Amino acid sequence: MPNTSDSAKPDSTKPTPQIQPAEGKLGILTIGMGAVTTTFIAGVLACKKGLAKPIGSLTQMATIRLGKRTDNNSPKINDFVPLAQLDQLVFGGWDIFSENCYEAAVTAGVLERTLLDSIKDEMSAIKPMSAVFDQEYVKRIDGPNKKAPASKMEHAEALIADIENFKKENGCSRVVMIWCGSTEVFHHPEAVHATIESFEEGLRNSAPQISPSQIYAYAAIRAGVPFANGAPQLTVDAPCLVEYARARNVPICGKDFKTGQTFMKTLVAPGLKSRMLGVSGWFSTNILGNRDGEVLDDPGSFKSKEESKLSALEQIFQPELYPDLYKNLYHKVRINYYPPRGDAKEGWDNIDIFGWLGYPMQIKIDFLCRDSILAAPLVLDLVLFLDLAQRAGMRGVQEWLSFYFKAPMTAPGLYAEHDIFIQLMKLKNTLRWMMGETLITHLGLEYYD
Ligand SMILES: NC(=O)c1ccc[n+]([C@@H]2O[C@H](COP(=O)([O-])OP(=O)(O)OC[C@H]3O[C@@H](n4cnc5c(N)ncnc54)[C@H](O)[C@@H]3O)[C@@H](O)[C@H]2O)c1
Repeated sequence: MPNTSDSAKPDSTKPTPQIQPAEGKLGILTIGMGAVTTTFIAGVLACKKGLAKPIGSLTQMATIRLGKRTDNNSPKINDFVPLAQLDQLVFGGWDIFSENCYEAAVTAGVLERTLLDSIKDEMSAIKPMSAVFDQEYVKRIDGPNKKAPASKMEHAEALIADIENFKKENGCSRVVMIWCGSTEVFHHPEAVHATIESFEEGLRNSAPQISPSQIYAYAAIRAGVPFANGAPQLTVDAPCLVEYARARNVPICGKDFKTGQTFMKTLVAPGLKSRMLGVSGWFSTNILGNRDGEVLDDPGSFKSKEESKLSALEQIFQPELYPDLYKNLYHKVRINYYPPRGDAKEGWDNIDIFGWLGYPMQIKIDFLCRDSILAAPLVLDLVLFLDLAQRAGMRGVQEWLSFYFKAPMTAPGLYAEHDIFIQLMKLKNTLRWMMGETLITHLGLEYYD
């Protein structure tokens, strides 16, 4: 008998995990305390006080259907899986600038002063620890709050000491780390990134190919702390650190938050492809004027972002399977630093499509977005889900969190899934699997028997 249900038993080769309860405080350590981080922390504090709602966050707002459609059983994700709650979160992190979180939020200029002033005491108490920084990797900025020169291994050990102190001082039972720092220059994995042995040797010799973000990632994994990368550079997406994370039972994920233009792309492109409409050109341009925009004005950092932004369409359209529709797609991405806009980015897309008999049409998208407002709920979901993954014994690359990334990490040799609807199904089915619920396949023939 074929299975005619729109739900399926969880994959029996992967038994339902035992999930440790979310007891005690969860420390959230952000690397970088700029626009995204301060908007995230301020938002959580404001939500805790009932001043605002966590809009854009799946962990706080979304529901998940369980069983058949006729069961009418759709609990909130937060009630279904054992996540840490907002009042269990404690914040800390590192930055090259020594402003506290309140001052940094004022500098970032994303949130209104009235909101920031209502949480001023809590925000002011969060002060950045001194950073591991190398201007070879972020050329447009420099700041005073840096660790004294030492070998890269000594820097990693200093970060581990920071993590341990933070945990102790704040009485945290667990910690999660997330890179919300500036975009580093583009680099490929090299020989030093091949194995953990070569990488540790490279740390001891301060190999120039090891970036600051990789020193943080190494420190996190060695300290048993889950790590997410919100920026497009390599960081934890290197063979040595992927293997190290598996060996140390640490969940990792990345890279580059999927927020504005790429979010739009991964909404629109699967729709065009679902109707077998062709695309001959996709021109994307942005203006933004925050510090992120300033850093991306450097060609090396822009290259990291460009690579990450270009990958989505190529995978979604699968030109090798649909040469008549997508083989000649011309895809161009531009980012322009334009200070008057601050964090209020504007992203334009011109999409040249063609339909029946090859007749051309155009789509124009003008997204007047707010970068950090879109990114903040992603940070919240990622840290809560990574903590859940760790308590469920899930280690290494967490592909089910691809939903949040422009250039999702996968197992070696596997192409990344960029279609946001497939990503969402994967995320929710992973949660169902974790809790021993039947998976939803959307087949649904049983309703017509
Ligand atoms: N906002 C979005 O929609 C979005 C989307 C995708 C990716 N990102 C990425 O998220 C990151 C943060 O964005 P943002 O708007 O908050 O930028 P930002 O410039 O406001 O903040 C980044 C902070 O990182 C600090 N920093 C840089 N190198 C550091 C280091 N080695 N150690 C500690 N701190 C360091 C900087 O001093 C700065 O305060 C950027 O890389 C950006 O590209 C943002």
